[in-house]
Amino acid sequence: MQKLTLTRPDDWHLHLRDGEALKAVLPHSARQFARAIVMPNLNPPIRTVADAAAYRDRILAALPAGQTFEPLMTLYLTDNTTPEEIIAAKASKFVKAVKYYPAGATTNSDFGVTDIRKCDRIFATMEQEDIPLLLHGEVTNIEVDVFDREKVFIEKHLIPLVSRFPKLRVVLEHITTSEAVEFVLSANHNIAATITPQHLLFSRNALFKGGIRPHYYCLPILKREKHRLVLLQAATSGNPKFFLGTDSAPHARNTKERSCGCAGCYSALHAMELYAEAFEGVDALDKLEAFASFYGPDFYQLPRNTEKITLEKKTWCIPNEVPFPDAGLVPLRAGEEISWQFI
Ligand code: DOR
Ligand code: ZN
Repeated sequence: MQKLTLTRPDDWHLHLRDGEALKAVLPHSARQFARAIVMPNLNPPIRTVADAAAYRDRILAALPAGQTFEPLMTLYLTDNTTPEEIIAAKASKFVKAVKYYPAGATTNSDFGVTDIRKCDRIFATMEQEDIPLLLHGEVTNIEVDVFDREKVFIEKHLIPLVSRFPKLRVVLEHITTSEAVEFVLSANHNIAATITPQHLLFSRNALFKGGIRPHYYCLPILKREKHRLVLLQAATSGNPKFFLGTDSAPHARNTKERSCGCAGCYSALHAMELYAEAFEGVDALDKLEAFASFYGPDFYQLPRNTEKITLEKKTWCIPNEVPFPDAGLVPLRAGEEISWQFI
């Protein structure tokens, strides 16, 4: 039996939700990961250090006995975020980053930033305080093709942003295109990116295989195969600028399987298995540990975990559904076999 032993990984981009939904999904992430950067896009969002402290307490209270997990909190940037809040965030020690959502880009982004230039005062404070900016890097203009929104964001907003704030630490989240990989490679060492399992495993064809497949719909949307291949190359290259962030984003089945379905893939249940399969596919399992467990903490200036986890080469079937409030939750690639198992 082939086994893979790795330093326990962390998830550098995760949606945990709140209340009963939080209780349903948290044990999955805590089983595989020691820590996670927790997204602030609740409704209403986590906008202040006080919001983040209360949410962190709710996460820790939802953790089942016997599990350990460290939530690394983020603030949701709005047009009204103040420099004082950034300074307080840095001082808090538990707020690790600030998340930028363009208004209207995705789930619960209505409070997001209407014009990135409006935040320059905040970015200056973040640069000074050395607190990372996490970007949902897509433009929202309805006239821009949905498959081009990341590329246009990089050209129109990101390149100017990093030239205005060259020392700002930036994570371009859930990258999906060759243009994003090229940008990160050509940028300074303070610019990094996270990559999801779905963008490593699937091209946009998965959205339409035999009919419309809402459980493969996430934002940024899956792209052409040529982009997937570039992402896979980046993730397995051993370059510390690219690290793991699942963007696991639970939505109840009935909110995805409807005429206007929500964006988000659920991968917290089997994240490491999915990444292992992607890395194995290009014969790069030896690069998985650093991608999953080293480069993230290095970027965030946190200690690497010391505990180990094991993945076994064993085929099992991903469940059709896991329990979730209101309706079940359908994991990524539900009902299909996967050849690695987290034990
Ligand atoms: O697919 C997505 N789902 N993309 C996001 O940016 C947000 C996320 C969510 O919160 O459901
Ligand atoms: Zn996300």
